[in-house]
Amino acid sequence: MNQNIICIYYSRTGKTERVMREIAQSLDCELAEVHDRVRRGGALGALRCGMDAMRKKTRAISRVESKRPLWEYRLVILGTPVWAGRCSSVMRGFLKRRGFELTDVAYVITHGSEEPYREVFDQMDLYIKKPHIADVSLRPGSTGYVFWRDQFLKACADYTDAELHPIAEELAAEANREAASIAPKERTEKPAAEDAATVNAPSDGDEKTKQTEQ
Ligand SMILES: Cc1cc2nc3c(=O)[nH]c(=O)nc-3n(C[C@H](O)[C@H](O)[C@H](O)COP(=O)(O)O)c2cc1C
Repeated sequence: MNQNIICIYYSRTGKTERVMREIAQSLDCELAEVHDRVRRGGALGALRCGMDAMRKKTRAISRVESKRPLWEYRLVILGTPVWAGRCSSVMRGFLKRRGFELTDVAYVITHGSEEPYREVFDQMDLYIKKPHIADVSLRPGSTGYVFWRDQFLKACADYTDAELHPIAEELAAEANREAASIAPKERTEKPAAEDAATVNAPSDGDEKTKQTEQ
């Protein structure tokens, strides 16, 4: 197992979890979940999530099970769903409380619409010491999903000198089923930009202007 990388995620309905499982499987690294003690299930729970995200309200978070202190990892990969165009309040809560422990981070966001929500990466960077080294914005089940996920994996592997392993393609299968229902002439080999899945690996010197956020 690669001891240098850990994937930490929050997932309300399992989509981000599946993505993070694939990433952890490919990098052969630890996978840990974070949550808070708020009831977030059902329609009422979803409403609460939306309100919390808009107000940037966070609560106490669960203990993250890791083999080593977080600052010892060469790379911490954080996964979160997008809520109301923002980082989920559970991941925000984690970043607020433990972001200072992290050195090198990469971000994975999942969302339901075609928007890439790149501003979420900047929101997350506000809580850590230096800008993230890679990110990916994924719409699980979209045709570009595998392409962008793999670009992200390559960026993480290059950064940490990790070896990539084959993954069970749960979400890829979902994307293929979706693609199969599209007329052949509409299919494209390469994912279109509108797939709302992007990957970015900023250089070390990539400076971002930080704003104060509560
Ligand atoms: C409260 C709430 C707000 C959401 N807001 C957005 C949004 O602004 N844009 C979007 O594309 N998807 C939005 N979604 C959809 C989720 O981001 C998407 O389904 C995500 O992949 C779910 O991840 P999870 O299964 O790991 O919880 C929202 C979902 C919830 C529950």
